[in-house]
Amino acid sequence: MTFPSKVKIVEVGPRDGLQNEKETIPADIKIALINQLTAAGFANIEAASFVSPKWVPQMATSTEVMAGITRKQGVIYSALTPNMQGLTAALAANADEMVIFGSASEAFSQKNINCSIADSIERFRDVALAAKQAGKRLRGSISCAFGCPYQGEVSIPAVIDVLQRMRDLGCDEIDIADTIGVGTPNKVKTVMQALVQEFPIDRLSGHFHDTYGQALANIYASLDVGISIYHASVAGLGGCPYAKGATGNVATEDVLYLMQGLGIETGIDLDAVVEAGQFISQHLGRKGSSRAGNAIAAKRASV
Ligand code: HMG
Ligand code: MG
Repeated sequence: MTFPSKVKIVEVGPRDGLQNEKETIPADIKIALINQLTAAGFANIEAASFVSPKWVPQMATSTEVMAGITRKQGVIYSALTPNMQGLTAALAANADEMVIFGSASEAFSQKNINCSIADSIERFRDVALAAKQAGKRLRGSISCAFGCPYQGEVSIPAVIDVLQRMRDLGCDEIDIADTIGVGTPNKVKTVMQALVQEFPIDRLSGHFHDTYGQALANIYASLDVGISIYHASVAGLGGCPYAKGATGNVATEDVLYLMQGLGIETGIDLDAVVEAGQFISQHLGRKGSSRAGNAIAAKRASV
């Protein structure tokens, strides 16, 4: 398979990246980060999450954040919407894309959204319908597609089953997520090859956490299957509050560096993303985990 000549990188740092931070990050910092990411050229930024603030307190500022950002025409600002309450808030905040998030693992579904996979799909039915009626894009996210922190193995038929259900709900795009970063390239390739039989390849995305250091290799394996949408988090921020020990998403700077080296177009200014990574890392008071980001920043500081 020849690699795609162009990929879409979805920046998920403001949501997946920040949701796990213990200290409350003020809305104006999140807004400044999203504005910097917009200026860097992302076509899609996951900016908010309308979930229960009791479950994920960090995302409680989502309405304020959505109201405060400077939007660029054509950029999709996405928001997580687990139920009708979330969807109503996301519509009021004028999110462009609603994200329903389910799991291929029964155990993780219970821990993350407090219901079974089957019940979650029923709950998403109304959300999907209302999102479509409002003329919004709908994205589905499938957690634990390569392994689960609670039940271990997750079978390919289980992933296919959720994919088919999300497809039938009308999802425009579906994310295949390695929530705890346990996948390795051959496994990822096998799963992706099975999924592209069920859903258009240009609307499937890879959402890789880098817990075991495999994310870039898994992206490379997915490129080989022909997948052309990848999620990444500036400065490698993140982790899921309901997946203990899960670290951040693959760092955006590392993915951009990889794509540059492979001659794959992204439309994103790597230097501007490095700046954004430095900005948020400085606010959090620690060094970002992007290897490319840190190398570029160090090189810059030395000249
Ligand atoms: P529940 O407790 O079963 O819901 O939670 P409920 O309907 O019984 O409501 C209980 C309370 O929550 C009520 O408040 C509701 O109003 C409130 P109370 O009456 O007790 O004061 N509530 C809400 N408040 C604000 N916004 C809402 C909302 N819904 C209910 N939308 C629920 C069910 C899904 C809400 C809960 O489990 C939840 O919020 N879970 C969030 C989990 C989460 O955000 N996880 C992280 C994101 S997913 C992820 O990171 C994975 C991903 O990156 C892919 C990957 O890497 O795998 C996407
Ligand atoms: Mg995630």
